[in-house]
Amino acid sequence: MRDGVKSDSSRPGADTLVLGIETSCDETCAAVVRGDRTVLADVVRSQIDEHAIFGGVVPEIAARAHVEHADRVVAAALARARVGFAELAAVAATAGPGLIGGVMVGLMTGKAIAAVHALPLVAVNHLAAHALTARLTDSIVFPYLVLLVSGGHCQLVVVEGVDRFVRLGTTVDDAVGEAFDKTARLLGLGYPGGPAVEARAVGGDPARFALPRPLVGRPGCDFSFSGLKTAVRQTVDAFGPLEAGDVADLCASFQAAAVGALADRTANAAALFRRRWPAGRALVVAGGVAANAHVRARLAEVAAAAGLALVAPPPRLCTDNGAMVAWTGFERLALGLTDALDAAPRARWPLDAEA
Ligand code: KG4
Ligand code: ZN
Repeated sequence: MRDGVKSDSSRPGADTLVLGIETSCDETCAAVVRGDRTVLADVVRSQIDEHAIFGGVVPEIAARAHVEHADRVVAAALARARVGFAELAAVAATAGPGLIGGVMVGLMTGKAIAAVHALPLVAVNHLAAHALTARLTDSIVFPYLVLLVSGGHCQLVVVEGVDRFVRLGTTVDDAVGEAFDKTARLLGLGYPGGPAVEARAVGGDPARFALPRPLVGRPGCDFSFSGLKTAVRQTVDAFGPLEAGDVADLCASFQAAAVGALADRTANAAALFRRRWPAGRALVVAGGVAANAHVRARLAEVAAAAGLALVAPPPRLCTDNGAMVAWTGFERLALGLTDALDAAPRARWPLDAEA
């Protein structure tokens, strides 16, 4: 430990450095973030090539790839940030929810670093990290409403504090990112599906295929995407070989239906949020699907209609990354919310224990 650097070590502040490690799905990530909201390094090693031939993430392959690359990704992040372990104030690692093998690898890596360098450990909830990213990028204040949309999750959550979440709604079946991925698979567009479907939808006719928009127009904030997914499959089966123009039209029609459902449910949540949390001013969109330009544009309209500002972090901080974990680590460290070295990895870990 260098003299002076940590003399005020009990009080995390603008110059506090936190290492974040994320391994809950198919990206091995490490980042160094400073308390003044500077991302000093953010290294993401994607496993797309390892999983592409299977058309989706294979948990066992993901876990092995994390084992192989975690140390190197951490070293790369520290080197890029020009920071040594001794200058860190804490190490944060995703402890769930996610694919358990990968979560174990990242959490063990974080624990080893914490033990060897006598650093506090912060066991981070992956969903909280997505939800708190907007405070890293836009320094927004609590409370705010988050639409969390990824490959595994589709929820509307009010963030009342670093450790306080109230879930307003969730999917009753599939996550919206999963629907994008399955649509891409049905159309032979490869993996990951979201960006492929978005790209193919450009220039397509969103009104060509009438696809269901489950729950739209009904009260409440829950989602359902399995019916939409089935309708895409039936359309593909009924149609026979699809020309490029048909694929574009189907992608555009699917995207319009999915985004329409997101917008409808989010509008209900925004109205509820305005009533029950009158101090709230922002709607945040987080998670991998938030990288979609069409999703952002529709949510901007929903936010404006509800008198809220839309906050959408840049796409690279919407998909999985280490910076969101490091930032959550900093926020929790600042509140004294650190964890013991026996913190358990968790495949399931709801944000709102009461939901
Ligand atoms: O947050 P994330 O990186 O990992 C999870 O925690 O799931 O989200 C990945 C999901 C995948 O389903 C992917 O297809 C989707 O986000 N996604 C997109 C786009 N980019 C990523 N979906 C729609 N449009 C995109 N541009
Ligand atoms: Zn994620």
